[in-house]
Amino acid sequence: MEIVHRGAEAEIRRGCWLGREVIIKSRVPKNYRHADLDRSLRASRTRNEARLLHEARQLGVPTPIIYDIDGVTAEITMEDIRGRRVKDELRDASGERVDELCREIGRLIALLHRGGIVHGDLTTSNMIVADGRMWFIDFSLGARGAMLEEMGVDLHLLKEGFQSAHSTILDRFPVILGSYGQHFERAPEVIKKMREIEGRGRYT
Ligand SMILES: Nc1ncnc2c1ncn2[C@@H]1O[C@H](COP(=O)(O)OP(=O)(O)OP(=O)(O)O)[C@@H](O)[C@H]1O
Ligand SMILES: [Mg+2]
Repeated sequence: MEIVHRGAEAEIRRGCWLGREVIIKSRVPKNYRHADLDRSLRASRTRNEARLLHEARQLGVPTPIIYDIDGVTAEITMEDIRGRRVKDELRDASGERVDELCREIGRLIALLHRGGIVHGDLTTSNMIVADGRMWFIDFSLGARGAMLEEMGVDLHLLKEGFQSAHSTILDRFPVILGSYGQHFERAPEVIKKMREIEGRGRYT
């Protein structure tokens, strides 16, 4: 089986499931945690991520289909989204395409937030373009029943990531916010929160 990615918490590999090519995300055991706690943390994070992937899809945000969840091995077997990370796509894109991608980022975040879901790790590495659509992945830090503050944090983290990964097109960040505002009635309050959070960072 081919390892696609090895992160701090999870390992991603390509595999085969009922004759289908799939992605398997496993949460690796951490031996600095007590074994029982480690097992229950990995199981609950796996369930949380699988549930959010599914609920986001119901809100109209393209996410991989889940084929299987295994709490014991802390594995999610899901659809392989074969495309490019938005991070790479944005780097090669020209003016109009950049704006198109930014509008789609804003629209999808609006759909999530409108449904009360925060992603928790909004970076352009956790977005993929494939089949003429944009997909969101990696909901491991996400939550439901989100408050304004958490939504503000989502936007704040996105902006921070944008500042480091896409510094040459920073002037396009407002396109994301503009589109977010067109699709979510509470956007002004969330954007205000985002600015407040930015301000906190500056003075501490
Ligand atoms: N369903 C999928 N289809 C295609 N590629 C995927 C899929 N899920 C994950 N990947 C690839 O694996 C990478 C890491 O996956 P993911 O973001 O879910 O893990 P991670 O939690 O970020 O790992 P880390 O612990 O480093 O944060 C993604 O950036 C993407 O390239
Ligand atoms: Mg990720």
